[in-house]
Amino acid sequence: MKQLYFFTIAFFLSLAGFAQTDSIEHKVNALVQKMSLDEKVGQLCLKGTSSRSKGLSDELKDQVRKGLVGAILNLTDTALVLQIQKIAVEESPNHIPLLFGRDVIHGYKTIFPIPLGLAASWDTTLIEKTSEIAANESYSRCINWTFAPMVDICRDPRWGRIAESPGEDPYLASIFAKAYINGFQGNNLAEPGRILACAKHFAAYGAAEGGRDYNTVSISQNTLRNIYLKPFKSSVDAGAATFMTSFNDLNGIPASGNTFLLKDVLRTEWKFRGFVVSDWNSVTEMIPHGYCTDEKDAALKAASAGLDMEMTSQAYAHHLKTLIAENKITIAELDEMVKNILRIKFRAGIFENPYFEGREKFALLDPASLALAKSAAIKSFVLLKNEKNILPLTVQKKIAVIGPLANAPKEQLGTWIFDGNKNDSQTPLTALRNMYGTENINYVSGLTYSRDESQAIFDQAYKAAKKSEVVLFFAGEEAILSGEAHSRADIRLPGAQEELIKRLYKAGKPIVLIIMAGRPIVIEHLLPYISAVVMAWHPGTMAGPALADVLSGKENFSGKLPVTWPKTVGQIPIYYNHTNTGRPADSTSFVGIKDIPIEAWQSSLGNTSHYLDAGYTPQYPFGYGLSYTRFTYAKTTIEKNTLTKVDSLIVTTTVTNTGNRIGTETVQLYVQDVTASLVRPVRELKAFAQVELKAGETKTVRFAIAVSELGFYNNEGIYLIEPGTFNLWVSANAADGFKQSFEVK
Ligand code: GLC
Repeated sequence: MKQLYFFTIAFFLSLAGFAQTDSIEHKVNALVQKMSLDEKVGQLCLKGTSSRSKGLSDELKDQVRKGLVGAILNLTDTALVLQIQKIAVEESPNHIPLLFGRDVIHGYKTIFPIPLGLAASWDTTLIEKTSEIAANESYSRCINWTFAPMVDICRDPRWGRIAESPGEDPYLASIFAKAYINGFQGNNLAEPGRILACAKHFAAYGAAEGGRDYNTVSISQNTLRNIYLKPFKSSVDAGAATFMTSFNDLNGIPASGNTFLLKDVLRTEWKFRGFVVSDWNSVTEMIPHGYCTDEKDAALKAASAGLDMEMTSQAYAHHLKTLIAENKITIAELDEMVKNILRIKFRAGIFENPYFEGREKFALLDPASLALAKSAAIKSFVLLKNEKNILPLTVQKKIAVIGPLANAPKEQLGTWIFDGNKNDSQTPLTALRNMYGTENINYVSGLTYSRDESQAIFDQAYKAAKKSEVVLFFAGEEAILSGEAHSRADIRLPGAQEELIKRLYKAGKPIVLIIMAGRPIVIEHLLPYISAVVMAWHPGTMAGPALADVLSGKENFSGKLPVTWPKTVGQIPIYYNHTNTGRPADSTSFVGIKDIPIEAWQSSLGNTSHYLDAGYTPQYPFGYGLSYTRFTYAKTTIEKNTLTKVDSLIVTTTVTNTGNRIGTETVQLYVQDVTASLVRPVRELKAFAQVELKAGETKTVRFAIAVSELGFYNNEGIYLIEPGTFNLWVSANAADGFKQSFEVK
């Protein structure tokens, strides 16, 4: 009887859901029927101004009045938003409301760590919560569409936009994508406080050759599908309302005109029902790409490929009507593009609530939001070195605080901070003075900004170090040195920071290097001068209190690297899920450049895949991060060693906190398909679990992975699960762990 009851409920709920979707489709179809050609083209136009403009031109108002605009970006004055929305709703021919977009990448006013830092937390609940706060704050300021999450996999820290990325791993990126989208959109796009997400940049933008932004991308189908497309598929599954195309060409065809991406994959395979917007002018940039002859050709190729909305450039506004008159684009194709947009507008509820009703209940910089920002920063920090347990600072009385990032309220916010305000920042200097007493903090910046070459205040910094027991050196990059168009060919500390560290070393006090940057920084040659290293990324508004808490030991570290950390820029691209090659290097065969005998015989060095001068291992591996305590892993048990394709791999291990304080460990499960019809990575992250353990506590960790998750796409785009031997590791990072094996039949 109970089953019947539940079935009946489920049946009527599904009917309700279907009815809701059906009513939206009905509304969309009915509205499109009433629209003129001009209005239809108008919906495809995202107009707007630079991220800093304040105005609202009469021309834009008039275009909205005529129904020639679908959405506006970067309108930051709420009064102006409501004013132009009123024009759209009350004066345009079919009263279609506008969407208002903005880059809210890691917070609106409460700024969280940059996404690469959030990724280092490996905490999807945290990421979802930060996105919800960002959505609430944005909505309160009349923004209903964010151009986030950026889910571009990146294996190249020269690329400035690695700062915005979820890192190098497709599994992590996929679950982070879902968390961001759930945080922004919630379960109901029309709920006040929620905003439309935009999965970007579709696709493979992070594979730009040489890490140089906007550069060409040439990758195989299997790499595209097994690495770069995975977080985008996850975004569709999570219900992302919109997608944004990327600036790059993919194997010769720019993403904004790429039918394979926008129709074959996104619509036909993945059944995406939202709409696709171009990136800034990326439609007309297909002309300099050398893919389109002129603006009209760009409009044709973008529309034919399935690009729904054009950001800022005007190819659609100028040429779509002509292309339709010439029957190069059909009315049916145009209607499909318009329907994709209207469908999202109806789902967003802006026909019923165009004026952001309910926004007044969301505050900016709410204490709970700031507390979350501090917690997020703490979880994002990665402890990379801690010689002689110099950290935490429990015994030191006099502390030297030195470096260009110690008191840099703007820089600590990181890239893509359109609405964050440095006046809201709490810096490390302030927080450490509050924690230890100003009289115990000897502060000298040493350099006035990260690129500063002047050594004029080195002496003062040296004296501050000399009269202290420990030096906290806050190094790194100004925010402008990462993010869009800010790739670096040399990823060491900029300016004279290295020289200052070496000068301070002569004071004979231990140095703790705290790096605030948008990317891993090459520090191999500095390590002999450094006792401890903390990667803080750009931690956001609450950088100071968060760093004071971990440096003092009030809080423990738990962050793990979401990207491989290179020894030198020459190793790049370097990432953990690489293939083995036919001549993998190992410690028994490798001879470093300093150890090569004079007049060594040509083939005497072991012909394997390595660099004579940089070896074959990174500085720090993916998934690496230390704690103030220690964890040991017992031997892993595999429930069944021979599995079929419909089975699940069940793996259990126990983890013990063998240190003397509580800590959180991120236990990682890696799998290797040893032999397959395509060479497969030496390891792939397939699951992880975060376990908090008190001193001496032991917990059991159990993983259940469907064998269907162990497959891969081949170069024909076919997903294969092939029988054979698989290896697995349960470990603390991508380089550690005890190898065990199982079979798939
Ligand atoms: C930029 C970025 C994109 C951003 C858009 C709007 O060029 O590539 O990520 O969302 O323009 O600002």
